[in-house]
Amino acid sequence: MINPKLAESILSNIAELPPMPASIAALLEMFLEEDSLSAVKVEKIISTDQSLTMNVLKLCNSAFFGLRQEVSSIKQAASLIGFKALKALALGSFVQHITDRELDGYLIERGGLWGHSLSVAGGSRLIAERYLKGFEDTAFTAGIVHDIGKIIMSNYLQKEFAEIVSLIKKNNIPFHEAEKRRCGITHAEIGQMIAERWKLPNILIDVIRNHHSPQNAIINKQLVSIVHISDSVSEILGITEGIDSANMNIDEGAVSSLNIDKAEYEDLIKRLTNLMLFPEQR
Ligand SMILES: [Fe+2]
Ligand SMILES: [Fe+2]
Repeated sequence: MINPKLAESILSNIAELPPMPASIAALLEMFLEEDSLSAVKVEKIISTDQSLTMNVLKLCNSAFFGLRQEVSSIKQAASLIGFKALKALALGSFVQHITDRELDGYLIERGGLWGHSLSVAGGSRLIAERYLKGFEDTAFTAGIVHDIGKIIMSNYLQKEFAEIVSLIKKNNIPFHEAEKRRCGITHAEIGQMIAERWKLPNILIDVIRNHHSPQNAIINKQLVSIVHISDSVSEILGITEGIDSANMNIDEGAVSSLNIDKAEYEDLIKRLTNLMLFPEQR
C-alpha cells in the first residue's frame, strides 16, 4: 500500500509537469486516424510550428528510425514514412524534452532515459514489422513513452536507495518490483497517471502501465508484449547505464503471445541486439 502522503506528493509532482503543447495534443486526437483529411491536418500542424518541425526532422533522421536517406522537409517525411509515423515523432520530440534530465534515483545520466526510450522504440518497431503488421508506428510511439513514469519515480528513490539495492540483491527481484515493495507504487503506475494527465490514447496507456507485466494488458496484449521484449533487451544490454536493469528478464508469455518459435526467437534477439548496440549500421 502506498502511504497517503507519498500519493499526494506524487500527484503534485505530476501536476507540475509541463502540459502537452496544443499542437501535439491536436495530433494525438487524431492518433488512430488515417484518412486523407487528417493527413492534411497533420502536415499543417507540424509545418506551422517551427521548432516542432525541426525536432521531428531530427528524429526522422535518427539512426533508430532506419531511413536510408536524409529527410529535409515534413512533406518529404510524410511521403517516406507516412502520417502516422509523423505523429509518433511529434510526440517523441515532446517526450525527449521532458526526459532531458538526470534521474538520480536510477543513477541515469542526462540523456540516458531518452537513449533507452529510443532504443526500445526502434526495437519495438522492428518486432512489429514481423509480428504485428499495421502497428509499427504505434509500437515505436509506445517505446518512446513506456518509461515516462521514471521522471517522477526517480524523486522518491534516492532516500530509499540502500534498501532498494539490498531488496534486489536479497530476493533476486527486478527493480520495478523493489519500487513496489519499498514505495507501494512503480514507475509504470506513475507513468499511467502522467499519460492520463496528458490524455495519451488508451492503447499507449495500456503499454505504459503493463510493460513489466504484459500478462495484465487490457487493450492490445501483443503490442504490450512487443514493448516488453524490446525493453528487456535494451535493459539487459545496459543501454541506459542506470541501475534499473537489475534482474530483468523476458516474460515467456510475451514471447508466446506473439507466436515466435525458438529459432525465430534467437534470430530476433540477435537483430534487436545489433540494432540497439550499432543503430548507425542498420
Ligand atoms: Fe520500465
Ligand atoms: Fe524501460
